[in-house]
Amino acid sequence: MKPNSLQELYIEQLQDLYDAEHQIIKALPKMIAEVTSTDLKDALTEHLEVTKTQASRLEQIFESSGEKAKAEKCKGMQGVIQEGSDLIREIEDENVRDAAIIASAQRVEHYEMAGYGTARNYASLLEDDNAAQLLQETLDEEKEADAKLTALAEDINVSAPIGTESEKRTSTRKRVA
Ligand SMILES: [Fe+2]
Repeated sequence: MKPNSLQELYIEQLQDLYDAEHQIIKALPKMIAEVTSTDLKDALTEHLEVTKTQASRLEQIFESSGEKAKAEKCKGMQGVIQEGSDLIREIEDENVRDAAIIASAQRVEHYEMAGYGTARNYASLLEDDNAAQLLQETLDEEKEADAKLTALAEDINVSAPIGTESEKRTSTRKRVA
């Protein structure tokens, strides 16, 4: 059923986020298994635990809104995760693979940040201060995870081989074309 009010749209957005969190809970262990850097592994493992808390926070909001905790297939997150796992699977160099894992994980974080920012605003407009606060907590955690990945990328990306001169020339030509 299509939402016909801000309240219904809000619930639909929560269901979408609820599904997204579950997709992440399923995908993160597979991603972690591919990581070489201990720091990156630790950061993603910690975020997996944080993600489980975020899913239960959504359950709390559903409950206090008198709604069933229902997941609505988040096709966007499915695409982001699929693209990342397709890319990572084909990479042999450990440092390049770690760099690609960060690139994929940051896309996930930003997608979530967009969703939580919107849901938090709806909760405020609908004067559900408790839900707004819970959604803000999750939003802050996603931002924190993103910042941590940016910091890790500073070390990991520079460890990845830059590529041969001819590869660089090819990529420059591609850019110009
Ligand atoms: Fe999350």
